[in-house]
Amino acid sequence: MIHFVLDGRTVVTDEGHTVLAACREHGISLPTLCHLEGLSTVASCRLCLVEVDSLPRPVPACATAVWEGMRVTTRSARLAQHRRSVVALLFANGDHVCAACPASGCCELQDLAQLLGVDHVDLELPRRARPVDASRSRFLLDPGRCVLCTRCVRACAEIEGARTLGLAGRGARTRLVTDGGERWGDSPTCTDCGRCAAVCPTGALLETATAAQGLAARSRPRRTPARAQPAPPPLAAGEPGDRARLATVWLGGCSGCHMSLLDLDEALLALASRVDLVYSPLTDAPELPPEVDVCLVEGAVATAGDEAELRGARERARVLVALGDCACFGNVTAMRDAVGGAPAVLRRAWRAPAGVDAELPALLDRVRPVAELVPIDLFLPGCPPGPGLIRAALEELAAGRLPALAGQAHFG
Ligand code: SF4
Ligand code: SF4
Ligand code: SF4
Ligand code: FES
Repeated sequence: MIHFVLDGRTVVTDEGHTVLAACREHGISLPTLCHLEGLSTVASCRLCLVEVDSLPRPVPACATAVWEGMRVTTRSARLAQHRRSVVALLFANGDHVCAACPASGCCELQDLAQLLGVDHVDLELPRRARPVDASRSRFLLDPGRCVLCTRCVRACAEIEGARTLGLAGRGARTRLVTDGGERWGDSPTCTDCGRCAAVCPTGALLETATAAQGLAARSRPRRTPARAQPAPPPLAAGEPGDRARLATVWLGGCSGCHMSLLDLDEALLALASRVDLVYSPLTDAPELPPEVDVCLVEGAVATAGDEAELRGARERARVLVALGDCACFGNVTAMRDAVGGAPAVLRRAWRAPAGVDAELPALLDRVRPVAELVPIDLFLPGCPPGPGLIRAALEELAAGRLPALAGQAHFG
């Protein structure tokens, strides 16, 4: 038996156990992605890092055996920041549009973002075309949703013995391939066992039948528990009886987030006694007033006009809120960047008839989430964010408080 200190408590576990196994044995949950019981350990995702007193740097709990007298810390500000950065990087590096993904609702990456409070992404990473391989009748591989955890590679080799899947390329160009880069449909090694799809933590690798229904319909349980919420910090208080001046702006989005705001239904009437809607696509006000208390921004920044409107909103609003996944991380609006960018989409959608270009707003070379351009005070993810979430946020904001909603909302 090994005695060691886990988050300040002396615990006992069997010799040879990893820190991750010991944590689970003692009811401490650690975020993981590449680790899966029954498969070999690669320790590549770095989400399960823990601090050990005698070591200079955090170590992966899934690949570190416990030793007598070691002192392990699983929660610290540094570890929380590290884990959030890893998840944000995985989102930025992929083509994730949860609202249009069959895995939404039972995706470990989506769950981790919620658990760790990742409510937006503002990292600039180059997007590139990553075509879906739908050549095998039973399966779909969408490399844009792959987090390169290699769970499928290991399941294919270690359980099925087929060795169909592997990684190719280096660095940012690393990708999952079948039979060294051949079309999956032509694979002579794949046995169609489905183990790869069963272990994939995201919507990258799916059985065709479940892709059509959505994985959630198969009722795979969510593996990540919801996070407890801290009390919201107070905003600078206004005078008692003041009515909050609310504005909403509509950038590159489908208007679904504004529709969700309207779905507050009768709660809008209660809100109307405490809030003045001073500017919005829902009203006739011609321009944003010089000062507003709260401004909700729907949509990503897709045109030069969007950028000017966003910067104007930032100058005038005391609290600027990113409303919906497009504002929070690009989402549907940014899909154009993954299929060749604005020129390619224009050619395909408009077929560029003479004169059309002059009527279009100047399109940016890349769609940007709002936080890439201006500081944002609050993120309300979701596609669209539910009326309950918007209502909870507006009630707090109308009362002069900045709500702490991270962990209550998820992408998609
Ligand atoms: S549900 Fe998961 S795999 Fe699908 S887009 Fe969202 S994060 Fe990506
Ligand atoms: S397809 Fe799924 S299981 Fe395979 S490496 Fe990508 S995310 Fe991991
Ligand atoms: S987040 Fe969803 S609902 Fe909101 S604008 Fe984007 S696509 Fe539409
Ligand atoms: S779960 Fe430990 S490094 Fe991925």
